[in-house]
Amino acid sequence: MWGGRFAEGPSAIMREINASIPFDKALWRQDIAASKAHVAMLGAQGIVSAEDATTISAGLDTVAAEYERDGVPENWDLEDIHMTTESRLAELIGPVAGRLHTARSRNDQVATDFRLWVRDAMDQADAGLEALQRALVMRAGEHADSIMPGFTHLQTAQPVTLGHHLMAYYEMIARDRSRFADARRRMNESPLGSAALAGTGFPIDRDATAAALGFDRPTRNSLDAVSDRDFALDYLMAASACALHLSRLAEEFIIWASQPFGFVKLPDTLSTGSSIMPQKKNPDAAELVRGHAGRVIGCATALMITMKGLPLAYSKDMQDDKPPVFEAAGLLALSIAAMTGMVADTTFVTSRMRHAAELGYATATDLADWLVREADIPFREAHHITGAAVKRAEADGVALDQLPLDVLKAIDARIDERVYKALSVDASVASRSSYGGTAPVQVEARVAEARKALGMD
Ligand code: ARG
Repeated sequence: MWGGRFAEGPSAIMREINASIPFDKALWRQDIAASKAHVAMLGAQGIVSAEDATTISAGLDTVAAEYERDGVPENWDLEDIHMTTESRLAELIGPVAGRLHTARSRNDQVATDFRLWVRDAMDQADAGLEALQRALVMRAGEHADSIMPGFTHLQTAQPVTLGHHLMAYYEMIARDRSRFADARRRMNESPLGSAALAGTGFPIDRDATAAALGFDRPTRNSLDAVSDRDFALDYLMAASACALHLSRLAEEFIIWASQPFGFVKLPDTLSTGSSIMPQKKNPDAAELVRGHAGRVIGCATALMITMKGLPLAYSKDMQDDKPPVFEAAGLLALSIAAMTGMVADTTFVTSRMRHAAELGYATATDLADWLVREADIPFREAHHITGAAVKRAEADGVALDQLPLDVLKAIDARIDERVYKALSVDASVASRSSYGGTAPVQVEARVAEARKALGMD
């Protein structure tokens, strides 16, 4: 492509280090679409003849059909998807293929192709996350009043409802979706027509190519347009936050599935066995989601470090932008799908959850609150009295509501039989009816809103 200036061809090392075709062939659909938009505009503007534009466009369709059928050939001499496509086009239609690259550079070409690819990845993430939200809302609705221990420090804290716990993840996923949506809005500008770095003297119509490719408008600065990879970084940072959330959900399932908890039976379809221990059912999918989060965050870090300190405009370092984005997108899509299946198909062992809440002195706060409310005792003192009751229950190996009244009265005479109502886990969750609280009425209201937002009714 640049043989005119060179006396010698590239060494084997140069060819190998230079080749991005092994990975950027993933951009072939975007590359064809952008080239078709470009050549249609060149034809409409009279920069190439209408006849040549038609020939080139038809030739690009043929190349696309070949790629679809046979895959993209990997020839290192052709470096990347842009040159691979152009060279095949020249084989098919002859020297007129050389007119396609008028008023264009690979710098604006790759920036355009990659944006289109990342935009699709954002849309795919959003669709996957919506499906995960539906699964969460479905299961939360089934378990709006199923009681489980709520934890802080992974120590039993207060009883909560399983529906409330699941809806916490609905909220996290909603933020992930909004991060992708923000990023998509910001990135939806077309770099095409920025050419190598300075723009072009040809009378191009950037609005036309932007519109043809579904962009809201052309970018405003050609130097920025060819050297900007913020769209990829925004994607990776949104993906990192999302992967982090998925890893937390995965960790919950891993803990809940362990035998001492026994809160869930994971779907067979998302578990594996052991080759030596016949009783084992391992939460491998959840563990891999937990692990993949580290790799996605690594991808984001990799691209930030590639971009730091690069002067304007394009530098070849930027060819390294694609592998981390492609890798993160694959990992994220799998993680979302795995967690959606896990949420949808896990069996919740509600009896075990309830039992654990009852055993863990989870209603101690309710006893303290009862003393404040019914006996007008300052909260700090009520906390102390309740601590003594828990100590006694622990010594006797019983739940709080199994302590006889005379024992409670010996701890503090102001306690009477009405306290037992407050000590049940059902009374505890029902009482937490503040907006956004765990009471079944609140959970049902949040589930109803979410179903409406997702168009599930
Ligand atoms: N293969 C290159 C990349 O992926 C395309 C852009 C090349 N531009 C250049 N000036 N060498 O970044």
